[in-house]
Amino acid sequence: MALKITVIGTGYLGATHAAAMAELGFEVLGLDVVPEKIEMLTRGEVPMYEPGLEELLRKHVAGIEGSTGRLRFTMDFAEAAAFGDVHFVCVNTPQKHGEYACDMSYVDSAFSSLAPHVQPGALVVGKSTVPVGSAQRLAALLPEGVELAWNPEFLREGFAVNDTLHPDRIVIGVGSERAEKLLRDVYATPLGEGTPLVVTDFPTAELVKTAANSFLATKISFINAMAEVCEAAGGDVAKLAEAIGYDDRIGHKFLRAGIGFGGGCLPKDIRAFMARAGELGADQALTFLREIDSVNMRRRGAMVEMAREALGGGAFLGKRVAVLGAAFKPDSDDVRDSPALNVAGQIHLQGGQVTVYDPKGMANARRLFPTLGYADSALEAVRGADVVLHLTEWREFRELDPAELGAVASARVMLDGRNALDAAAWREAGWSYRAMGRPSA
Ligand code: UDX
Repeated sequence: MALKITVIGTGYLGATHAAAMAELGFEVLGLDVVPEKIEMLTRGEVPMYEPGLEELLRKHVAGIEGSTGRLRFTMDFAEAAAFGDVHFVCVNTPQKHGEYACDMSYVDSAFSSLAPHVQPGALVVGKSTVPVGSAQRLAALLPEGVELAWNPEFLREGFAVNDTLHPDRIVIGVGSERAEKLLRDVYATPLGEGTPLVVTDFPTAELVKTAANSFLATKISFINAMAEVCEAAGGDVAKLAEAIGYDDRIGHKFLRAGIGFGGGCLPKDIRAFMARAGELGADQALTFLREIDSVNMRRRGAMVEMAREALGGGAFLGKRVAVLGAAFKPDSDDVRDSPALNVAGQIHLQGGQVTVYDPKGMANARRLFPTLGYADSALEAVRGADVVLHLTEWREFRELDPAELGAVASARVMLDGRNALDAAAWREAGWSYRAMGRPSA
């Protein structure tokens, strides 16, 4: 009999995982405690912008014309427990308010809601990013005969569907051979074919995820630190990144200097990692992450100063500032810890008249920062602006016509916080173009 799968938590991770499991041929039941989410998903609608996810969902959600009917949703833990052989826990682990540690309340509540109902012989698989040691603790909450495995997920927002169906690697942390066998059965699908599989213990599996994200954050802050040195020395960080990247031990990826990393993962993961290392008495091992965080936050401030300087120094009062970008990265509507909105907010709080436009992040941005100005297009945001800040590198912004924008801007000053626009094209159209970590002309 084919295994039946439940997915607990239907955010970026869970919704994508549920749809992907249905795509692989499993019968899937997705569970969430937020009724609006369940209603939307049941209609085949995705509560966030994620390219390709809605199509995949509609292909499988029961009740949608032409669907396989393999994917359903519920809010009932007892129903989920009765249905599934394998339960994936995909709830989020945000940063605690006012602390560095991560908030485990959603994970804890998922386990304690499932535990009283879960069937003997079932496998519970944690996918959420958690502090090392959590799996060991959570295993004790499960009844006798129910196995636990930890199986971190490495998907990127904006590429969630592709990353889930074609992972670089599968990592599983297990405490028994039976758990390993069950999880191997789940991945004995095209998803697992040819994909490296790393089988290890609980703590290592948990650490793989936080170590990978720390490494990525380190790479970005490294190049941003080089940008600071380039700014001081008159160098060009984009050329520097190109040149060091040809060494394939370094590589070109994740070396784009700019206003730095944000989102719901990297910033909170490195902070939670430091907090956990402190609890374990290993804080010295991760003090460098504090520096990674500092460099990252400093670049947001540097962007604000670059804008101030472009406006002739002094206060932002009475100045019109156009901000292109609100999402923390392109192809996403996620504004959690978005560097773009942080910069926009800082300038607004200093008296600037800020108008933001983002292709997909507007609704979330309005909710988070209702006092900023918003426009319906890049052209409208730029109309009358004294300076334009490019802060999220959407393709739509790379394809803008500098001459068309130049005709409506009050001054042709473009500050590229993502090092992603074609400098020559903007300069040719009469713009003063400046990017972070690069000479002015
Ligand atoms: C990240 C990890 O990449 C993913 O493996 C993990 O599962 C979750 O966290 P995500 O948060 O979706 O994924 O975004 P990512 O593509 O990693 O970008 C993170 C941030 O770094 C963005 O704000 C992006 O703009 C920034 N970034 C990325 C840079 O500033 N420079 C770069 O060169 C690359």
